[in-house]
This record gives sequence, structure tokens and C-alpha cells, in this order.
Amino acid sequence: MCGIVGYIGKRNNAADIVVNGLKRLEYRGYDSAGVAAIQDGGMHVLKRAGKVNDTEELLRSTPLTSGLAIGHTRWATHGNPTDLNAHPHSDNLNEIALVHNGIVENYQVIKAKLLKEGYTLRSETDTEVLTVFIRSLYDKLGGDLVEATRLALTEVRGAFGIALISTLEPDKIIVARRGSPLLVGIGDGEFIVASDAAAVIQHTRQVIFLEDNEMAIVSHTGYKTKTIDNRTINSRIHQIEYDLESIEKGGYDHFMLKEIYEQPSTFRDAFRGRLLEDEGRVRLGGLSRVAEKLRNAPRIIFTACGTSFHAALVGEYMIEQLARIPVEVEYASEFRYRNPVLREDDVIFAISQSGETADTLAAIREAKLKGASALGIVNVVGSTIARETEAGVFIHAGPEIGVASTKAFTSQLCVLSLLALYLGRMRDLSRKEGIEIVKAIQKIPDQIESILAQAETIREIAQLYKDSPNFIYLGRGYNYPVALEGALKLKEISYIHAEGYPAAEMKHGPLALIDEHMPVVFIATQDELYEKVLSNIEVVRARRGRVIAIANEDDDRITELADHVITIPNTLPHLTPVLSVLPLQLLAYYIAVLRDCNVDMPRNLAKSVTVE
Ligand code: M6R
Repeated sequence: MCGIVGYIGKRNNAADIVVNGLKRLEYRGYDSAGVAAIQDGGMHVLKRAGKVNDTEELLRSTPLTSGLAIGHTRWATHGNPTDLNAHPHSDNLNEIALVHNGIVENYQVIKAKLLKEGYTLRSETDTEVLTVFIRSLYDKLGGDLVEATRLALTEVRGAFGIALISTLEPDKIIVARRGSPLLVGIGDGEFIVASDAAAVIQHTRQVIFLEDNEMAIVSHTGYKTKTIDNRTINSRIHQIEYDLESIEKGGYDHFMLKEIYEQPSTFRDAFRGRLLEDEGRVRLGGLSRVAEKLRNAPRIIFTACGTSFHAALVGEYMIEQLARIPVEVEYASEFRYRNPVLREDDVIFAISQSGETADTLAAIREAKLKGASALGIVNVVGSTIARETEAGVFIHAGPEIGVASTKAFTSQLCVLSLLALYLGRMRDLSRKEGIEIVKAIQKIPDQIESILAQAETIREIAQLYKDSPNFIYLGRGYNYPVALEGALKLKEISYIHAEGYPAAEMKHGPLALIDEHMPVVFIATQDELYEKVLSNIEVVRARRGRVIAIANEDDDRITELADHVITIPNTLPHLTPVLSVLPLQLLAYYIAVLRDCNVDMPRNLAKSVTVE
């Protein structure tokens, strides 16, 4: 949520470098953007409401020559997305500029104190309060920007990732974090600070990740790290694995479409090197140190948000079926506050694409506090959740830029199916059953290809229904979470109201919504609940609802019942969601495109939600 970039180094186009970095982070927030650079000893701030391109235009008309700059792309929390509320914010004398991700919870208290002391504030943001607060401490100390920043941060409650520069000490960028990611990229005679590695890899792959309550002072020649309570630390240098290509559109119109089409290979990457076909089992190296705990776990809890939560629901069904371990799935935002009952031998898995979702992170911290083992199923290596969990499995989907999660979902399902097999084989699942599952997993990438080949049919269906104000998605068993996911995809990128339900729940209320104008998407694959789903379809048809069915290739019966059928190949029931979700991703995508919506940057949303 929000993106930060900063540059200090040998080049004199720091502002351009920062703006280019912001473009790579725009998926994290796109309400406003801005850049601050020190040129000829003066602070220059260019910012405006709108996309990074608008700030780039400003920069084109007012070029800045500087070796030191910071910038920000904003997802508004405090204050409307206006020019004035855009970051960077500066102090009253325009000598300190600061960008901030997160929320300063006690900003009203600090603000009152500053106003009493005679400082003035122009915007409605907590960030400006923090900037002026640092200035006030600097004045009181009679200098020393690092100490003033450090002292201010010890008083701040809430979450922050910040970067600041100042004409008072124009030889450094100060960065700090609590609850909001930040890293320092180490280049050749230059350093790039950022909230996300995507802004850095064009310049360097060597980074240090700040941990919570740490700060870094980055100069032209090096960096120092310490804790906000003033202890010196040695931060380890990490190597970023992915390349530039993976964060570019590569000829596709949108990142979302590119990511949908990457799924044959991302799914394969999620199981690559992990299947032991002859033994009908899997090797999950990331879990080896907790294998005994998992063998004895009386219960597994999944906690997650959004799409990752839907993957967790599928995981629940998978593990209960294959391993017979009771599983609970909890919204992280609920779990963290409701004082859950946890036992020491409970195992909790956080599922997160970004590894930075604030609620999910807080949920595992709460679980750890209560003695449970916290493990992760995460995409981003080096993310906070990956670092704070005892063990886990990476999904290896590569960077996901589209705000609507697609490839991460199918890769999460892949890893959850591996986990279910891993746990099942530790218990009652036979080698023969294991081999059958492994074989089915290996077939999935080709099966995904065959579904993607139907894109044109799906686009035609999208054309017919793009103006419907409402949609209902229905599925049962493994396909119920898919119904939820299909509805989420549609609402987040096309702004059409959509609901997902277990199909049989229709008759308990939502059936009242059905008339000839209501498109109902049924996920009706041939599993043990198939006949029941056909009856549910009959009920909808009897009320003249328009039926779009996702069905198996050899299903003749469904063509008589549904207005439109999109087919998927047969697989094992617990792997079906990987296939049945694909037409729903494409349907949402095409409807959004046909409605002229900004697919990759839907209104009001941001890619990773690092605030509560
Ligand atoms: O990074 P995470 O998986 O923790 O993110 C969780 C949700 O914020 C995310 O899945 C969100 O719901 C997506 N925009 C859905 O497409």
C-alpha cells in the first residue's frame, strides 16, 4: 500500500530514477504521486493527485538535476487524494521532505502539540504531522537529523515506512520502518531505497531488508543500520532472485492478462522439484524442520485475507479429505482481535501472496504469542511474513503486479495440494493414492493451457453480460470457494456487484434476486455433488435466471440446462478449483476491459494492504 523510492548516488538525475521506480510500484497505490529532490542546496517538491505519469509530466516541465531524491505513490488513508495531501510532505521552511507508508495513529495528539508550539500544518495528513514533528525535534536538539527522526519515531504509534531527505544535511537519506516494508538496494556508487524490490532490480539485486523498528542512514558512500531504540545492527545482504522481465507486461495489454497466461508455468514452478512420483509423495524442504510438529498436529489453522483466504478454504477441504486433520480457516482481520483459543501444538499457516498484509502478519504474531507454531505459504521471498514464520513453503509464482490476484491463487492451490498430500502420506493415504495425485498434478499445466485457449468464447460471453449490474456465482464442495473467488475478481476490477454462495444456500434467501436479468455462474463439475448442482441450476432456470456454467468437457447434460457452457478438463476433485477458477478470471478480465475499467489499478484498491 503506497510505494516509496529514494535515490542517493553518483548520477545527477535522481528525480527521474525515483519516478521510474515509482512507476514499478504504482500497483501499490495510485491516488497521487510526488518527488522531492535537493538541487543547488534547495528542496524542490513536485507532486500532484493522479498517476505517476502526471508527476512525470511535472518533472518534464521542471527538470531537476540532483543526486538525491525521494518519491511516493499514494493510496490515500488520511485526507482525500488531492495535490496538497500528496507526498512528499515538507516542514514549514521547506528544508525537510518526507514520504510515508502506513498510518500514524496518534497524529492528532502530536498535531495539537505542534500547533501549540507555533508550527503550522497545511494538509490533512498524518505524514505532514510527522514531518513537522521531526523538524520540531531537530530545532530543539539544535541539529542532528538522524537523532530527531529517531526520537520522533519512538513517540509515534501505528505503522510506518518512511524516507526523508533534508537540505540541512544533504548527504543522506534516512529510512525507517515499523510494520511497512522497506529495503535498501546496494548499487555501484549508488543506493536505492524502496518499499518493494520491483523498484530496485533495474539497478541492483543486492538488498538489505529493514526489520520492524530499524532505521538506515544511507549516504553516497555507504549505509549504517540501527534500531529505533539506538542499538547498532549488522544487516544481512540478500540477493533478489527474479529479473526485470518478470515485472514488465511483455506484450500483453495488462499485467492481469499476462499473469493469467503465465499460469501453466507458474503452476509448474510451484510443484517443480517437489514431487516424488514413484513414492506417491512430496518433498517440502521448507517444512522439514517442523515435520514432527506437523505429524502430531491435532489441528491446522489457516489465516489469510481476500483471494488468499479463498485459497485457504480450498486447502481446508483438501487437508480434511486427504489427511483427515481438522482445519479451520480464519479471516486474519478477525482472528487477530478475537482472542482465539490456541493450543501449543496447533499449527497456524499464514497464506499471503505479498507476505506483507498487515492483518495476516498481526494474526501470526498473535498466534506466536499464544505459543502456536506459525508457518507461511508465501510468494514474496524476503517478505515480512516469510521472515517471521518458523518455516514454510514458497509458491514461486514470481512477481504479481495486477491488483487482482490470479496466478498467486492457482500457485497457492498447488502448494496446498502438495501440503495435503504431504500430511496425508504421514497418515493414512496410501502410496497408490499418492501416485494418482502426483500424476494428476503433473497434468495440470497442459490442462490450464487448454482452458486459456477458450479465451475468445469467454470474451463473447463477457460481451453479452458486461452491462449487468449484478452477478451471482454458485458452487458446492471444492467449487464453493471458487464461486467466492469468481465474484471477488468481478467486483474488484469491473465494479459490478457480485456475490458468491454455496449453491444450496440459494433457497435460503438469495433466490429472491433471480429474474431474467440475473446472470448466475454455476461451477458444475462432475464430482459427487454434481447431481445436486444440476437441481440447483433447474431452480434458477425456473425463475428465468441466465445460466453460465463451468462444466467438464464430456458433460452433455449441462448443455441442455445452461445458456452458456465453458468447459474444463477432468481432474481429481480436489484439484478442480485450479481449473474451474480460470474461466472466471478471464470472464472478469474481459468484462472489465469491455467496461473500460482500469484492470491493473482498480479504483480504491492497492496491491498489498499494509494498513489495518
Ligand atoms: O498479499 P496477500 O495475499 O496477503 O493479499 C491478500 C488480499 O489483499 C488480496 O488477495 C486481495 O484480495 C486481492 N486484490 C484479490 O484479488
